[in-house]
Amino acid sequence: LARGVAEPDLTGRHVVISAGGTREPLDPVRYLGNRSSGKQGYALARTALARGARVTLIEANTGLPDPAGADIVRVGTAVQLREAVLKAAADADAVVMAAAVADFRPETYATGKIKKQDGQEPAPVALVRNPDILAEVAGGGTGARLRPGQVVVGFAAETDDVLANGRKKLQRKGCDLLVVNEVGERKTFGSEENEAVVLATDGAETPVPYGPKETLADVVWDLVVPRLGPESA
Ligand code: CTP
Ligand code: CA
Repeated sequence: LARGVAEPDLTGRHVVISAGGTREPLDPVRYLGNRSSGKQGYALARTALARGARVTLIEANTGLPDPAGADIVRVGTAVQLREAVLKAAADADAVVMAAAVADFRPETYATGKIKKQDGQEPAPVALVRNPDILAEVAGGGTGARLRPGQVVVGFAAETDDVLANGRKKLQRKGCDLLVVNEVGERKTFGSEENEAVVLATDGAETPVPYGPKETLADVVWDLVVPRLGPESA
């Protein structure tokens, strides 16, 4: 695919993309967060629009400018993200979970600001698990989809045995494709560029050399398109 002259191969398709990172509030002024910039998700949205898709972009705390033509849904927490994804995914041809979802949230939310107490150590923060949105959409180990025929894509940042960890995660989540990044110095959060391997359930491995996030986004769509089901009326 020549850059800049996108094939309209997502025309008539609805794609849902999550981007950014969730924030899990402790009190009105504090949260547990992560360093996801949202740039990869926004690149996915722009490239899908260029290829003719209707795009729902569910963004968590990115502060990035809205891609023209996308339907934007703003969320804060993982629980809100889950609700928005499930709603938008109901009639979607593809769902791409590029957002970094907090695995845990504080068990309780203090409605007033948590204050220091003289001469006392702070109380520990109890955490509870957040829902696994990707596994829910993709069907987890059973692969039973909420919407049959929907193409589901996950992202994973891994260290150590990156590919083996990615394969395990692909299977555990039940998604069709998993974009695996090795976490390292150059491939840091917030950068404009990325390097990855896209793993598919059929065993295919597509390496994407270090380059713009738009390039990786187009490779993802190149792999999504042949896996799409028939167009719905
Ligand atoms: N994900 C999700 N819901 C969660 C956690 C993750 O939908 N509660 C999605 C992410 O959006 C991403 C994929 O799952 O597309 C992989 O995220 P990752 O954090 O690598 O997976 P985890 O299952 O949380 O595994 P780990 O323990 O390695 O963090
Ligand atoms: Ca995680």
